[in-house]
Amino acid sequence: MTVRHFLSLLDFKTDEHRRVLRRAAALKAMKVRGERPESLRHRVLGMIFEKASTRTRVSFEAGMVQLGGSAIFLSPRDTQLGRGEPVEDSARVLSRMVDAVMIRTKDHAMVETFAAHSRVPVINALTDYNHPCQLLADVFTFEEHRGAIAGRKVAWVGDGFNMCNTYINAARVFDFELSIACPAGYDPDPALVEDAGARVHLLRDPREAVVGADLVVTDVWASMGQEEESARRRVDFAPYQVNGALMALAAPDALFMHCLPAHRGEEVTDEVMEGAQSVVWDEAEARLHTQKALLEFLLLGDAFDRN
Ligand code: CP
Ligand code: NVA
Repeated sequence: MTVRHFLSLLDFKTDEHRRVLRRAAALKAMKVRGERPESLRHRVLGMIFEKASTRTRVSFEAGMVQLGGSAIFLSPRDTQLGRGEPVEDSARVLSRMVDAVMIRTKDHAMVETFAAHSRVPVINALTDYNHPCQLLADVFTFEEHRGAIAGRKVAWVGDGFNMCNTYINAARVFDFELSIACPAGYDPDPALVEDAGARVHLLRDPREAVVGADLVVTDVWASMGQEEESARRRVDFAPYQVNGALMALAAPDALFMHCLPAHRGEEVTDEVMEGAQSVVWDEAEARLHTQKALLEFLLLGDAFDRN
């Protein structure tokens, strides 16, 4: 069987994403009922984190344990990868020992190189290019609250960085309309915008992007690794804050999402974060259910659909 990886949303066909999301809903219901499926009994996930994380680490680790397996946290401070052992060599060694590897790092090419030399599935747990695991959770959460996302209008407000790039891919895979408002100089990857075609609109005015939107999404103004640009970014992004006035332009039943961590008073106000339209806590919880389904999909092969 060819090894499947999840480095981008585009690695899966739409029907495969749909199977993962359906299973995520089932896993969530099972957890509520106190059932503990042991579908990944004795399987081991290696987790390489070259950047900080709360949600991603805990959801993957707890998810593996809840499915009967386990996870090993690997930080560059304590592994030879951090001392310069080649990615190719690390991939060949680790993938002879564990059943899947999850990687969070800056350079997307590192994850691609690792996957190319890995015998086991590799999952992108955030690079500077994209964050596909987060979008599984976001689509799951939207559909849990509002039904099918296909044909709906989504507004991205803020930095055209990894999360925005992933929303562009999601618009293709899940067939929604995406209006992006970001300041000049902070545009998303132009190749992704071009490939997404007419369903993605790149704008400058956040109000124009948000009008009539069913979902409004933002992210921090300075991502991990951009901390030294924070002061300049606070100026450049000031007109892009998601606040009550901006949300008032969206559809009356619009939802607000943020991958978190959030900087209240910068990209989003406390009022919106804590307001009735915010589903950020369900969104964070969905990381657990969707990634458990993703792990099963990658590790169980044909048995996935017999779950
Ligand atoms: N949203 C997200 O990936 O959060 P963490 O950085 O805490 O993992
Ligand atoms: N854009 C953010 C997302 C964090 C989950 C970052 O890269 O830091």
